[in-house]
Amino acid sequence: MIFGLRVRHFLVVAGMSFSAMVQAESTDVMSELRAIMADDQGRQAAYEAGQERIRFCGYCHGKDGNSKRDYIPNLAAQHPQYLFDQFEKFGNGTREDYVMSKLAKTLSVDEQINIAVYFSQQKAKARPSPNPALVDAGESLFKTRCAGCHGQKAQGFQNMPRLAGQPAEYLGIALNRFKQMDPTQHSTPMIGIATVLSDEDIESLAAYLTTQ
Ligand code: HEC
Ligand code: HEC
Repeated sequence: MIFGLRVRHFLVVAGMSFSAMVQAESTDVMSELRAIMADDQGRQAAYEAGQERIRFCGYCHGKDGNSKRDYIPNLAAQHPQYLFDQFEKFGNGTREDYVMSKLAKTLSVDEQINIAVYFSQQKAKARPSPNPALVDAGESLFKTRCAGCHGQKAQGFQNMPRLAGQPAEYLGIALNRFKQMDPTQHSTPMIGIATVLSDEDIESLAAYLTTQ
């Protein structure tokens, strides 16, 4: 009987897809994060540890998570689940960036949690539009094609990133990255969505989202 159970357990584990295992792992990280957030002292300790750990990140992403350069994303008010997913992607090579691919491999689970706690307490600031004439067109495009996932105010949710306040240049880089991705190598709904966007659509969306 016990033997039977073991075999079944083994089969369940062996039959799990890679993405299900990744999902299980990130769910554990999320429950650890939730426990910390629910406890005042734990949250404060994690915030302070996060503040120490992000000193270096701050040179690029800003100490308060509002990025210092237009090609670098904000991390302020970004959702923990999304941050964990991106650390995972930089770490396993699904997403590549000269600095981030190396850095992601150095972050322990505790550090990822502390960083997420720290940035979740920062406010993302709206930026002036690089192209005010395109803001209205960008807003209607966003409301019809993007708000269903990214939220009415582009505030994001769980693994749907916040887009509001991101620098326009970074939004353009990210959308073009999805446009150029090989769908046989990557799985994200953004590939299908970005493929049909024209250069002008991307410019309008970026012109609008950065002001939010
Ligand atoms: C030298 C500059 C630099 C430093 C230092 C740096 N980053 Fe980054 N980071 C970037 C750039 C550039 C990107 C965007 C890469 C791309 O276009 O895919 C990025 C992307 C990210 C993303 C993905 C955000 C998104 O919206 O998709 C996360 C999360 C992140 N960095 C976290 C960190 C953390 C945490 C640290 C410190 C441990 C750090 N970064 C240090 C430059 C930097
Ligand atoms: C079906 C849900 C869905 C829709 C609709 C959608 N997105 Fe996304 N978007 C996502 C998910 C999920 C991610 C995270 C992708 C990843 O981790 O690879 C994402 C990521 C992004 C990013 C990268 C953010 C960052 O910080 O790097 C941008 C920019 C973006 N979406 C813009 C848009 C725009 C603009 C539209 C409308 C034209 C849109 N999305 C519609 C689900 C969606």
